[in-house]
This record gives sequence, structure tokens and C-alpha cells, in this order.
Amino acid sequence: MKTILEIISAKMMTAFAECGYEERFGTVVVSNRPDLCQFQCNGAMAAAKQYKKKPIDIANEVCAKIKDDSFFSLTDAVMPGFLNLSLSDQALASFVADMGADEKLGFEPQNKKKTAVIDYGGANVAKPLHVGHLRPAIIGEAVKRILRFDGYKAIGDAHLGDWGLPIGLIITEMKARHPELPYFDPDYEGEYPEECPVSISDLEEIYPFASARSKEDEDYRNRAREAVVDLQSGRRGYIALWKQIMDISKVDLKKNYDSLNVDFDLWNGESDADPLIAPMIEDLQKKGITRLSDGALVVDVKEESDNKEMPPCILRKSDGAAGYPTTDIATIIQRERDFDPDKIIYVVDKRQGLHFEQVFRTVRKAGIVKPETELIFLGNGTINDKFGHPFKTRDGGVMRLEYLIGDVADKVLEKMSDRDMDREEAYRISRIVGLAAVKYGDLSNQATKDYNFDLDRFTSFEGNTGPYILYTMVRIRSILEKCRVSVDDAVSTAIFENRDIASICRNREISASERELLLGLTDFAQSVRHASDELAPHKLCSFIYDISNRFNSFYHDNKIISEENEELKKAWIVLISLTYRALDCIMELLAVTVPEKM
Ligand code: ARG
Repeated sequence: MKTILEIISAKMMTAFAECGYEERFGTVVVSNRPDLCQFQCNGAMAAAKQYKKKPIDIANEVCAKIKDDSFFSLTDAVMPGFLNLSLSDQALASFVADMGADEKLGFEPQNKKKTAVIDYGGANVAKPLHVGHLRPAIIGEAVKRILRFDGYKAIGDAHLGDWGLPIGLIITEMKARHPELPYFDPDYEGEYPEECPVSISDLEEIYPFASARSKEDEDYRNRAREAVVDLQSGRRGYIALWKQIMDISKVDLKKNYDSLNVDFDLWNGESDADPLIAPMIEDLQKKGITRLSDGALVVDVKEESDNKEMPPCILRKSDGAAGYPTTDIATIIQRERDFDPDKIIYVVDKRQGLHFEQVFRTVRKAGIVKPETELIFLGNGTINDKFGHPFKTRDGGVMRLEYLIGDVADKVLEKMSDRDMDREEAYRISRIVGLAAVKYGDLSNQATKDYNFDLDRFTSFEGNTGPYILYTMVRIRSILEKCRVSVDDAVSTAIFENRDIASICRNREISASERELLLGLTDFAQSVRHASDELAPHKLCSFIYDISNRFNSFYHDNKIISEENEELKKAWIVLISLTYRALDCIMELLAVTVPEKM
């Protein structure tokens, strides 16, 4: 199905062509003066230059061609040469009815043969998820779902940090505390204990302790680095311990991501790419693009046009360990081999931009990916507290994600205290709404920008917030229920088979707020298209916020439930059902769960 802009543009293109101008001047955009018109075409201004005429003369000529078209309710040529356009109510309703009859609400997937890998977990084994992991998880999950909706085979990979210094630190600290364990005895040849000697909560204490100690104690730090080298070279006891830590950690991380409604197709870690590292290094050496620098093996990636610092990419550190870039390069080889992707998208803290630039340049230089394979770094901004300072716990520590979400849900529960609900239900719903508040608060900000986390604002039931959108949806649901329509029926395409919206408009004037709601809905396909092409979930938030506002004005202007004209009531039910469906579809793309009441 064509988008509304494509349909109107096609009409305008024909009109331009009929007047002897190039078609391309007929492109139509959404009006930036909604007080004057719904859509506008600025082509006469551009055409004027090419044809050396006055823009207003061209606009008038073109306008004459469309003025009798019943598709439009307004066709105006205005100074200096704008074409202001509005659709007839019939055209608007008919388009919306077509949307309703379409499985994807008129959105045409355009990437059915493409594959994208999205790398968006990045959690580190043995460290609980903290605030810094929130954005990649939430944005990455939304991007994956949006791309799928657009036809991609989209594969989400957690890419766990399981092969670097954190693990070395844990091994070193455990060795310091329990030197008697067999994992640390290089001569031990027997079986290792079946169970991991530490629990997840032990790890939560051990890691920060070891990390802090390594910052003060150089010898300790060196031992941790050595442990990494030993692990990576396959030392039996370390591998056994590492595997056990990995197992308990993965279970815990899965639980955490689950509770965020974030799920991965692949739970690979950095270590999975390890077998590919040695051949990869050999290959790059053969290609002659490596050199030794103070004992480390590096690839120069500086380019003439660089105006910022671009240090070489380190493949092998002087102590022999593979570094962070090395695993990322080997992982790209692995993804090429397994999926042959058209795109690899990294949703990672934007402060890692330099790292990815080095990695991308190295793989290009080495010809590891096809020239047309897109390597995209979607660097996410930081979450700050409401004053713009780094987000910390009260005692200055790193804020654990589950505590943050718990705090938000408690705030929601407080706001819901006047509801007629039993405690248990209110608690359950406050968890759903709290998570939505966090996710929406995050997603409604452009991914690359930093934002301030303001508990009061995010949990407000008014304004551009998750709770406001949910509240709107719950309101629609309750109207439908009062009209004895189940939500399941409301969101099916079946109710559009006889095109109630279209037929009802034929016989009556529709009110301004109803027209505005219809018009808002026409933007669905365009919004999803932008979100997919630009990897920009925030565009979907703008759309649903706009729809919610339009719905709420419509709701305030019209008494739906008590409407006595049965035909009219039916048309309205269809309209609000479609509104619910559009909101619901977007919430699904954003991976935000919708409660049945609140
Ligand atoms: N584990 C890394 C960190 O905590 C993030 C991983 C991001 N993804 C990647 N392919 N490098 O910094």
C-alpha cells in the first residue's frame, strides 16, 4: 500500500507534468503550517529557478489542474509559490479504512531479503547489569524489532564481555581468597568440583572489590592481566573455573534481560570468537598490514582526512593477550561466515566510538567484509540524573538496573494509590507501568543524545511519557469494553472489511478533532519508515505521542459511549479501535508491555 504522501505526491506530479514541468517538483510533505493546511508542495519554488518563471505563476497553473479533484478539500496557491493542500474527509477516511484492512497498517516492508546483526547487550559476565547497560538493551531491542517489521532477518547478539580483564580480576581475587582450590594448582590433573565455588551474589561482591584493588595495587593488576593471558592460552584450571562462572552469570543475565523484555537470538560472548583470532592475525600479517610497535602487533588506521587523533588498532598486546578490538574483529569474521549480513549494527555507549572506528577501518583494510556491508555504530548517549550529573546511588556507587526500575515502579504505585484495585493487582500493574516509564523515557530521546533521568517527569501520567501513552490505551480499551467490543476484535483487520469509517463520512460533517485523529493516523507508515531507515526509535515515540494527544481531544469532544446514532457510534468504535491498534503495534516494536488497566 502506498503512503499518504506517495498518493498525494503522485497526483501533484501528474499535475506538474500536465503543465509541462518535470514531475519531480510534485513532491509533497506534511504541512509545517497545520493551521492553514494538512500538506504542502514546495515544488513551484524549485521549478521557478529551472524554468525562469515566477513561482506563484507555476503554483497557480498547477493548482488549476487539481482544483476540481474531489480528493482535495483545499488547493491553494499562496505567495511566494506554496501549494497548500488538504484532503477531503472522504479521501482521508478512505485511506484510513485501507490502513485498517492491511495487516501492517499500510506499512510496506522494504528489506525482505536483507539480514542485519544487532550487537546490543554488551553486559560483562560476573558484573550485574547497571544503569549503563540500560540504553543499549532498550534501544537495541527496539531497533531489532523495527528492522524485523521492515522485512529484515534481524539477529540480536548479546556479545557478552567474557574474555577480558574482569574475568582476570575475578580469578585473581578468588585465588587470593581460596588458594587451596584445585583450579589454581597448575599441576592438578583430577576432576574439578562440579559446582561453581561462588554464587552470583559472591561475584557481585568480588568483582568491585577486585576492580578497586587493581587500581591501587600494581602487582595485583599485573597478576590479573597474567590471569587473562593464561586463560586465553587455555590453562585448564582457569578454563574450568571460567566456564562455571559463565554458566551462573548467564542464567542471571538472562533473568535480568528477560525482566526488561529484551531477548537475544545469540548469547555469544567475546570468547566465542577466540578460535578465529590466530588465523585472523596470520591473515592480516600475510596481507602486510600489520607492524610491531613496542612489542605489540598493530594495524595503522589513520587516514589523510582525519582531523582527530587516530591511534593504531592493537591486535595483540605486548603481553600476548588479545585486546578488545581483536575480539571485535574476529567476531565480524564469525558473523560474515555465519550470516553474511548486509548490516552489522552496534548499539553501544557512544564513548566507544573511537574503538569501533578503529575496528571498522581494520576490517575494511583487511577486506574482511564486502565493501557494501554496512558497519554501523549507533553510539548511545549517557543517562544522567535529573541535574545532569552522572547517575549514581546515594552512596556514590554504580546504580544497579533492577534497583532503578524498582524505584520507578514504586513511584508509579504511589501515584496509583487512589485506584480501585486490590494491593496485589496494583503492585503487578505498577511494575509494568514503571518499566514502561523507564523504557519510554529512554526511547523518546534521540539515541545519540545524553538525557536526564527525572523520576517525577518520567512517571507523570501527562505529557510525553510512557504512562501517558499507556493511560490513553487503557482508556480506549475501557471505552471499547463499555461498548461491548473486545480488544481482540478491535485490533483485528476484520472490522474493516465493510469500511465503516469511509461510508459513514459520506453522509455527514465530521468534527475537527475527528479529522485530526484520522489525519494523524495517516502518518503511521511514514513514521515507521523513518524509524527503520534512520534506526531511530524516538520517531515512533513522537508518532504515538501525537496520536495519543489527538485521540484525547477527540475523546473530550465526542460522547462515544452514549452516542445514540448507532451508525455513527459504530464508525467511532472502528476509528478508536484502529487508534488502539496503531498504538499497540508501536508499543510492540518498542518492546513496551501494555497493561489491561491502570
Ligand atoms: N562489554 C563491553 C563493555 O562493557 C561492551 C560490548 C559492546 N559490543 C561490542 N561488540 N564491543 O564495554
